[in-house]
Amino acid sequence: MDTKETLWKGRSEGNVHPILIELGESILLDIKLYKEDLKGSYIHAKMLYKIGILNEEELSLILNGLKQIQREIEEHKFPINIELEDIHTHIEQRLKEMIGPIAGKLHTGRSRNDQIALDTHLYVKKLSRQIILKLLEICKIIINRSEELIDFIFPSYTHLQVAQPVRFSHHLMAYFWMFIRDIERMIFVFEQANRLPLGCGAATGVNYENDRLFLKKELNFKELYENSMDAVSSRDHIFNLLYGISVIAVHLSRLCEEIILFSSVEFSFIELPDSLTTGSSIMPQKKNPDLAELIRGKTGKFISNLNSLLITVKGLPLTYNRDLQEDRKPLIESEEILKILEGIHLMILSFKIKEKKLEKSLQKGFSTATDLADALVQKKQIPFREAHHIIGKLVKTCVDNGYTLFDIPQELRKSIHPDLSDDNFYYENIDIQKSVEKKVSRGGTAKKRILEQIQYAKSTLENIKKSLPEEIDLDLN
Ligand code: ARG
Repeated sequence: MDTKETLWKGRSEGNVHPILIELGESILLDIKLYKEDLKGSYIHAKMLYKIGILNEEELSLILNGLKQIQREIEEHKFPINIELEDIHTHIEQRLKEMIGPIAGKLHTGRSRNDQIALDTHLYVKKLSRQIILKLLEICKIIINRSEELIDFIFPSYTHLQVAQPVRFSHHLMAYFWMFIRDIERMIFVFEQANRLPLGCGAATGVNYENDRLFLKKELNFKELYENSMDAVSSRDHIFNLLYGISVIAVHLSRLCEEIILFSSVEFSFIELPDSLTTGSSIMPQKKNPDLAELIRGKTGKFISNLNSLLITVKGLPLTYNRDLQEDRKPLIESEEILKILEGIHLMILSFKIKEKKLEKSLQKGFSTATDLADALVQKKQIPFREAHHIIGKLVKTCVDNGYTLFDIPQELRKSIHPDLSDDNFYYENIDIQKSVEKKVSRGGTAKKRILEQIQYAKSTLENIKKSLPEEIDLDLN
C-alpha cells in the first residue's frame, strides 16, 4: 500500500493511506483562514514567552518566521500540499523548514482543536463586521433614493393583485427596516463569536499555566470560553453566522424577485442600467436582469449550508470530532454574501422609475376601490359591509364592460347606488394622490408620515453606528 508519513508518526506504526489524505484535507478551503491562523500563532508564541516556555531568541525566530510565511502566502509562493492536511500543519511545517526544530515548540500547550476554533471565531467576527458595514452603506442609499423618489406613486400588491396606492419610497423603505434587523442580527453574531476558545487544548485544558487572559487581550476578545470541552465542540458561532446570512439572502432574494418582475415588459415600472443586465445570444430585443436572478439563485445555497452544518453537528458526542471539519465549506462560502451585497448596492443606486405604466396599473387595478368604500362609510353613513358590497358591484360592472373607476359612465354608477352618481364625491374619493395622503396612521404612506419615517430611519442609523463592533486586527504585531 502506498502510504504517507504523518504528524503523529510516533504513535502509528505505518503511514496513512492516500484515501484518508484525500478525504481528510481541509487546506484547499482553510488556506482562506491563513491570517487568522497566523495571528493566533503569533500571539500564542508571545504567551509562551511570557510563561517562560520560549526564550527571547526563540520568540523572535518564531515571530519573524510567521511574518515571512505571511509574505509567502500573499505573494503566492507558499506551496500547498494536501498531505499536510490543514492550514495549521502547513504553517508549522514551513516554519520548521525555515527555523529548524525550534518551530516544534510553538505547539506547546495547544491543539489543532482549539486552533481551528480560534480561527473560525476570528473569521466569523471579521465577516459579520464586514457584512454590517456593507448593509449600513445600502441603508444609507435607500434613504437617499427614498427622499429622491417620494413623489412617485406605485401600486402595492397583496397576492400579486393590485391592492392600494403607495408612495414608492414607502415600498423601498420596507427593505431598509429589514436590513436594520439584519444588522442587529449580525451584531449578535459578532458578540457571540467574541469569546476566546484558544488555550483549551484538545478538550480538557492543558498541562501548563497558560495565560488565557493575555491571549484574550492580545487577540481582542471580549470574553473567553469558561469550559474547555464547550470551546472545542461548539460550532454555534458558525450556526449564527449562517442563519444571519440566510435571512439576509432571503430578504435580498425577495427584492431581486421584485426587480425582475417590475422591470419586465408586463409591469415596466423600473429599469436597470445596461451594465447590470445581459442580452441574449439569439433574441436581439432582450435585456435580462441576470444580476438579480443570480442573487435570487444563490439564496438556496446559503439556506442549505445552514441546514447541512446543523445536521453534521446534531449527532456528535462531545468534544472534537473530525466531522466538524465539514464546517469549512459553509463557512468559506459565506463570504460570497459580500459580493451579493455589492450587486444589490449597485442595483438600488442605479435603477430608474418608468412613470408611464404606473398610473395605468393603479387605475386598471381599481387601487382606490377601498377608499371609495370608506368614503361611503364616512360621508354617507353606510355600514362598511354594505359599502364593500356596493363597490364590489361597481368593480364587477367595470370589469364586465371594460371600464376603470375613472371612466365608468355616471348613469351606470347611479344604477348601482344613487350615492355614486355625485361626481364631486365620486372623483374626490377615487383620486390616487389623495388616497395615498389619507394613510395618515403611523407607518402609513402619507407624505408627512414617510418623511417622519425617513427621519426616524436616519437616527436609527446613527444609533447603530455608535454601537458598531470594533475592527478586527489580524496584523502580526
Ligand atoms: N483539520 C482539522 C479541522 O480542520 C483540524 C483539527 C484536527 N484535529 C484533530 N484532532 N485531528 O478541523
